[in-house]
Amino acid sequence: AEPLRIALAGLGTVGAGVIRLLDTNAALLRARAGREMQIVAVSARDRGKDRGVDLTRFDWHDDMTEMAARDDIDVVVELVGGADGPALTLARGTLGAGKALVTANKAMVAHHGQALSELAESGGVALKFEAAVAGGIPVVKALREGAAANAIERIYGILNGTSNYILSTMEASGADFGETLVDAQKLGFAEADPAFDIEGTDAAHKLAILAAIGFGAKVDFAGVECEGIASIRAEDIARADTLGYVVRLIGMADLERTGDDSCALLQRVKPCLVPKGHPLAHVTGATNAVVAEGNFSGRLLFQGAGAGAGPTASAVVADLIDIARGEIGAPFSIPSAEMIPMARAEAGHRTGR
Ligand code: NDP
Ligand code: HSE
Repeated sequence: AEPLRIALAGLGTVGAGVIRLLDTNAALLRARAGREMQIVAVSARDRGKDRGVDLTRFDWHDDMTEMAARDDIDVVVELVGGADGPALTLARGTLGAGKALVTANKAMVAHHGQALSELAESGGVALKFEAAVAGGIPVVKALREGAAANAIERIYGILNGTSNYILSTMEASGADFGETLVDAQKLGFAEADPAFDIEGTDAAHKLAILAAIGFGAKVDFAGVECEGIASIRAEDIARADTLGYVVRLIGMADLERTGDDSCALLQRVKPCLVPKGHPLAHVTGATNAVVAEGNFSGRLLFQGAGAGAGPTASAVVADLIDIARGEIGAPFSIPSAEMIPMARAEAGHRTGR
């Protein structure tokens, strides 16, 4: 079979991780995808930067849109970041030209996922974003496919690795907030602008995406009530500890009844007191954990590395395998034209938990 020809935009933490993974696991990937996965062209801002990977075998493009437009490219991987700007231009251009797009960019998907999804569906091409939510945990696929038979009643969890790293490190060692944030940045967990992490925006992006998948609704980032951890002090964590709690930044989405046959989607990101016996209290470091409650599956818990080069690359490359196999699928759980009215999603099947 012909190789899957990839253009890679963004060669930072995740981009370099993707190159390393494709190199290290080449034989395994060829067997699983049924064809070779070949990076043909790459683009980033600074051509001279040492990224710890050999780029000499790829064509370099200063202009990523021009790179994506090449006739010999099958799929574009966007690892640049930012809700708008070059990432969005690249995404629109790629899907509009009938090529598949893989992205880890939760900000872009939270703001423009609906429109991009319609563009992908009208062109009959794949738009995949497993890496955009909870790093290495394959929760997008699990919710969209594994739990597809359920009416989802609630989704909640720890969705930002940087905040969780800060909170759990402060808890373990009484470390200072600022120093811990610098460590998270050095480890490659934080966003280019870490305000997105500590103000809860990144978790809100991910929650809006998960809620859209779980509830079959439109992505509604503007509807997420959001508060981050920026004002949490070491004393707050110590007081919570004496009362038997830990502090965790929790994102939660569920349905609230608004009438006999209607309900509304409630989405919140907030620092919460979690009892020490709760499974989420044991989630430390940059780990993420997502709980989904389905009306027939019951409670499902997904846990794993929520940030960092390796785990995020693992999710990006899983999407590439799907594309290499010709699996297009709907970007969300159902085609965007057929969102489930909230009253139907609620459906009266609640298990009473
Ligand atoms: P980095 O900041 O490490 O890398 C970003 C890359 O994009 C760099 O190579 C940079 O070029 C390039 N870039 C940025 N702006 C431009 C521009 N205007 N024109 C051309 N190239 C540009 O980010 P990450 O790798 O950490 O993240 C990439 C994406 O993945 C983001 O959307 C992020 O939210 C998401 N993500 C990140 C995770 C993580 O753990 N880091 C986890 C899950 C998702 P140069 O290197 O030359 O400066
Ligand atoms: N900055 C994000 C986090 C990266 O800390 O969770 C993973 O999406």
